[in-house]
Amino acid sequence: MTHTPHREAGRARDRRARRSLTDRLATGFARTRAGAAVTTAIAALRARPVPRHWTHGFGIVPLALLVVLIVSGAVLTIFYAPSSERVIYAGSYAPLRGTEVSAAFDSVMRLSFEIPGGLLLRQVHHWSALALAAALCVQLAIIFFTGGYRRPRRASWVLLVGVLVLALATGWSGYALPDDLLSGTGLRITEGVALGIPVVGTWISALLFGGAFPGDVIERLTPLHVVVLPLALVAVVLVRSVLVLRRPVPLLPRPPERPLEFVPTWPRAAARAAGLGAIVVALITFVGATVTISPVWLNGPSDPASAAAGSQPDWYTGFLDGALRLVPPGWEVEWLGRTWTLAVIVPLLVVGVFVVGVALYPYLESWILHDSGTYDTLDRPRNAANRTAIGVAGFIFVGTMWAAAAADHLASLFHLSLELVLVGFQVQLFAGPVIGFVVAQRVCLGLQRRDLDIVEHGWETGRIVRLPGGAYTEVHAGGGDPELWRLASTTSSPIRSSISQQKEEEP
Ligand code: HEM
Repeated sequence: MTHTPHREAGRARDRRARRSLTDRLATGFARTRAGAAVTTAIAALRARPVPRHWTHGFGIVPLALLVVLIVSGAVLTIFYAPSSERVIYAGSYAPLRGTEVSAAFDSVMRLSFEIPGGLLLRQVHHWSALALAAALCVQLAIIFFTGGYRRPRRASWVLLVGVLVLALATGWSGYALPDDLLSGTGLRITEGVALGIPVVGTWISALLFGGAFPGDVIERLTPLHVVVLPLALVAVVLVRSVLVLRRPVPLLPRPPERPLEFVPTWPRAAARAAGLGAIVVALITFVGATVTISPVWLNGPSDPASAAAGSQPDWYTGFLDGALRLVPPGWEVEWLGRTWTLAVIVPLLVVGVFVVGVALYPYLESWILHDSGTYDTLDRPRNAANRTAIGVAGFIFVGTMWAAAAADHLASLFHLSLELVLVGFQVQLFAGPVIGFVVAQRVCLGLQRRDLDIVEHGWETGRIVRLPGGAYTEVHAGGGDPELWRLASTTSSPIRSSISQQKEEEP
């Protein structure tokens, strides 16, 4: 059958006329500047391959937790009363009825007992805060030990450390909001630390508390927790996401016989990420629904005159508490007509230098190694023995401060004196990182040597044969070039240079 050109033109006109409103809006938007930018970004994401391997979805976990925190936090804000005004508790929890509490504590009790789903929201919010800090630490550790922070990803590393610091600050400020006895104890420590800072300490304390403790700290912390810090967090996360998506995914070397399968970032990897995000939300909701956290009714309202015995901060701020506990008693000096509280200044300096050192590590490393190369491949941790050893030493250092926050619990659990436990931690703070460094470095070099052995002689098969001369030997299989993939990524390994040397010497 044939169609006249006149009829064809009529059909095309009809088709145009039938286009839906959304179609026309989309076409209109695509013609604008913003539309063109979105189209270009989507085209770039379609062309950016992502490996279909579970390790490459890990960055989604903190993102999903941040979304949960923002959504649950927004709903909590509706019912939370950011006020330190004194009221008499008259809610349904009988043991506290008639007690004088702050309006903030009263509202958190109402959230826990009277508002349907309120306790679930509080618990999901608090568990997400704990999990967010953990997920960020794991992400940083993976990037560090594989060398994923090197040029051209140095700025994303700095931003990720910034995200962790902001998440800790947001968590700390949220921890203070319920105004229960634990919040109060934490704030009392904060006040002491602030006052211990030379010159500006009293100003910081006045800014935070607005007068004698507790002042109106709740009124001052709420906007910080609910608006300022979350906005800063979202901004840094967005900038970092753009930086990450503009680079190819850095990869660990793979054996040629087990190649990775790749999918485009948009839409396939994005859909997988959304699925993983949904799983994270489901799991954290399950934990929030079944495991009690922050039972403010058991802690009771905050009271400036008392501190809960054995009170502990949330896990992610434990290292700060431990750093304070590790200072020997009586550390202060008189100088320039002032008392310098070294017990506060030294831990603050140590923690500050450590955090700045971690953030600037990529720049320090390239400066010390005179390395101006760019890297799109990752290292196996064993192949960068010094870096792995530095990472292990850093973990032991922070881990010791963190564990020292539980010194009182450990002393009573093991029936030891508190002083003895603290001295143990003090020794470990200095000796632990050095021992950790040496052991980790030796282990890495040992593993490199084993790899070299496999490259040279193949795998041990466990089959022993007798040679014509009467000697016994184990049969090795494989080896040779295909195994070199495991070593190929190394930039600093002595084993690699040994292999290159052998290759050059081969006829
Ligand atoms: C990284 C982001 C966040 C972290 C780590 C975080 C952490 C926390 C923590 C640990 C608490 C104490 C919960 C409790 O035991 O009751 C808390 C309370 C609270 N948060 Fe957040 N939060 C975050 C974001 C937000 C956002 C975005 C909002 C609001 C839009 C918000 C609003 C609140 C409110 C109103 C409370 C007091 C209610 C209560 O304690 O039950 N939070 N937050």
